[in-house]
Amino acid sequence: MTITFIGHGYVGLVTASIFADLGNKVWVIGHTKQKIEELKKGTIPFYEPGLAELVKKNIKEERLLFTLDYEEAIPDSEVVFIAVGTPPYKTGDAQLSTVFEVSRKIAKNLKGYTVVAIKSTVPPGTCKKIGSYIKSLKEGKSEFDIASCPEFLREGTAIPDTLNPDRIVIGSENKKAEKLLMELHRPIDGNFVLTNLETSELIKYAANSFLATKISFANAIAKLSEILGADGLKVLEGIGLDRRIGSEFLFPGPGYGGSCFPKDVKALVAIAKDYDYSFSLLESVERVNEQAKRDIVRKVRKLVGDLRGVTIGVLGLSFKPNTDDMRDAPSIDIIELLKRDGANIKAFDPQAIENAKGIIKDIKFTENIYDAAKDAQALVILTEWNDFKEVDLGKIKNLMKNPVIIDGRNIYDPQKMKELGFTYVGVGR
Ligand SMILES: NC(=O)c1ccc[n+]([C@@H]2O[C@H](COP(=O)([O-])OP(=O)(O)OC[C@H]3O[C@@H](n4cnc5c(N)ncnc54)[C@H](O)[C@@H]3O)[C@@H](O)[C@H]2O)c1
Repeated sequence: MTITFIGHGYVGLVTASIFADLGNKVWVIGHTKQKIEELKKGTIPFYEPGLAELVKKNIKEERLLFTLDYEEAIPDSEVVFIAVGTPPYKTGDAQLSTVFEVSRKIAKNLKGYTVVAIKSTVPPGTCKKIGSYIKSLKEGKSEFDIASCPEFLREGTAIPDTLNPDRIVIGSENKKAEKLLMELHRPIDGNFVLTNLETSELIKYAANSFLATKISFANAIAKLSEILGADGLKVLEGIGLDRRIGSEFLFPGPGYGGSCFPKDVKALVAIAKDYDYSFSLLESVERVNEQAKRDIVRKVRKLVGDLRGVTIGVLGLSFKPNTDDMRDAPSIDIIELLKRDGANIKAFDPQAIENAKGIIKDIKFTENIYDAAKDAQALVILTEWNDFKEVDLGKIKNLMKNPVIIDGRNIYDPQKMKELGFTYVGVGR
């Protein structure tokens, strides 16, 4: 099949490369000349394990093609996926201007029969609006159907997630479009959920909001455990083993972040508000998430005291390991709060420093873990990169001014840390 992806971000480029690898001819449309030129040479714009190799392989085999030209790709394609960003406005509502902008360009270039499938996360009702918009603009005899194909991949494991998804959700109003999308997805190992447009659109928001709820629940239990003297990790293990609950996403930490959870929770609250429904459960999920970030700072203050002029090392900036994505990473707010208290920050991350430089100002980015620890009066761990788990803790202790570790990800064994002479606190322990 010949297909097109519009957008070459974490979703567009990963899914496009996988469909190319499965034998399809895949066009990827971008909007900046420089990025498209780089992509043609196999240089990818972000870090995702295994992606660079997959892109290079499929460029070489001439199945993955990059262009700025809608005229080149759209008429040739049976399915066109829209995978552009839908970032939030301050109100929480999703910004849909790019989705509409690319839809206008698609409409002008349709030829024959095409399924236009929206992969971007969009509020229920958007696919229908896009369908009417394209219909009002398209010229000639071309035919199209609109479909919703939400994406569930996770950054850091995006390739295996796309090849082995828990489900493939297809929302459509029409059997022809549904059949074509099922045929395209057939080589991928996942259960189909076939439904209408609004249901498919809402599944995506409901899934992310539920996962965010689990994380906030874990953080609330962790907090309560600290107050009561219980072992929060054991409590969560104890409930997670119940198959009705499940242990995934039931870990406390410095709050959820990333390009999806904060934005999608906010959007679902805003969507509900539009229909006079107060989604107070999700509003609490957001509040607990903010508390989780502040709680890390509170622990630093408690162990270090006055932070004015004090050097604090931070390990981990990306919102989770194996990605360079800094969007809404908890590190941003936590570092800001520490800076406000007067601390001098030295931070290290294995992949996210370049992106962090554009977001976090007036801190020192170090070249390695040990430089971040050197002369620090406390070390704060915000991302559970494997590199941090394998670090030489004896060396860290010798380099630090005070051996104090606030472990926002519970990556070390408290007993071992005590034996090594650290003052060590985690979350919920
Ligand atoms: N990142 C994730 O883990 C993830 C997972 C599931 C769903 N989603 C959803 O998928 C969508 C895309 O997310 P992402 O993380 O890939 O975003 P991203 O910011 O990484 O990528 C967006 C892409 O859109 C392109 N773009 C922007 N304006 C354009 C225009 N006018 N014309 C053509 N291309 C344009 C950008 O160049 C970029 O390649 C969002 O709605 C997001 O919520 C993301």
